[in-house]
Amino acid sequence: MKRVIAAILTVCIASLALGGCAGATTEKTTPAATQSKAEAVSKAGNKKLTVGFAQIGQESGWRDAETASIQFYAGQHVDTIDFKFADAQQKQENQIKAIKSFIEMGVDVIGLAPVVETGWDAVFTEAKDAGIPIVLVDRKAKVSDDLYSTFIGSDFITEGQNAADELAKLLNNKGNVVELEGTVGASAANDRKKGFDDQLAAKYPDMKVIASQTGDFTRAKGKEVMESFLKTYGNKINAVYAHNDDMMLGAIEAMKEAGMKPGKDIKTVSCDGVKGIFQAMVDGEANVTVECNPLLGPQFFETCQKLKAGESVEKWIKSQESVFRADTAAKDLPTRVY
Ligand code: AHR
Repeated sequence: MKRVIAAILTVCIASLALGGCAGATTEKTTPAATQSKAEAVSKAGNKKLTVGFAQIGQESGWRDAETASIQFYAGQHVDTIDFKFADAQQKQENQIKAIKSFIEMGVDVIGLAPVVETGWDAVFTEAKDAGIPIVLVDRKAKVSDDLYSTFIGSDFITEGQNAADELAKLLNNKGNVVELEGTVGASAANDRKKGFDDQLAAKYPDMKVIASQTGDFTRAKGKEVMESFLKTYGNKINAVYAHNDDMMLGAIEAMKEAGMKPGKDIKTVSCDGVKGIFQAMVDGEANVTVECNPLLGPQFFETCQKLKAGESVEKWIKSQESVFRADTAAKDLPTRVY
């Protein structure tokens, strides 16, 4: 069954890539979404749930899996859901434009994975004034509680703490760490950093972060930043902490090109749990991944349905996640969906 889901997700991801990102706020819709709101009724004649989702972009395998999960669910429910999708190409201004257009369309609910935490008050207030609930998906926004209905996603602080504990085990509580941070201002980057730093300060005084720089959650930038860390610090580096697996996969390439053995000379811990990092663990080139669940499509739409029906929802619908290590990677890899 998991293989079937994986195959479907792969198809969704491939079709996303083919769709490209033509405009500043490319709106991709399911066939039903090409109808006007007035026409959005199911075969049975019931009014459909109309949802607009403003995605960040396609920076990582994890994000592609999240998009696929949401689009797959919408595609499976075209008779009851009218879905509008915007790809903001990593730009907050494009997400704001998308939200404004969803407000104009009069959707029932707006979903948003905020690229950064701040700068949302004005547009969220517009949505509130229009009576449209906002659902934050996977990343938080720093706004007052009355401006959004719920946050569906992970505890990034705990992920950062878990990453620190894992690295401490790998380094026997002592060593120099370089850190690849996510997108500047993103809640995933801010909180994974905070959780990690606080844990080091509280429990591991002999572990030091000697350099920390953003790799923007992408493999290409992760590689580029790791190359410069290696040039500056060389053999002084004992471990890499990356805020996502894609950046770590780039860093692994950089280490190998520099003649180092990632996973052995330099220990690795990153966040997400994508298949690529499991393969790297199987190959002995990575040590640990702290899971972060991107398969939020079902929870997202179920929450939208509840909000449309006027039901109350939890303010934080938390994801359940694990930590995966190299010793079980060969067994775990075939079970991974993304
Ligand atoms: O917000 C979740 C983070 O964003 C994931 O760790 C990362 O891969 C993504 O792009």
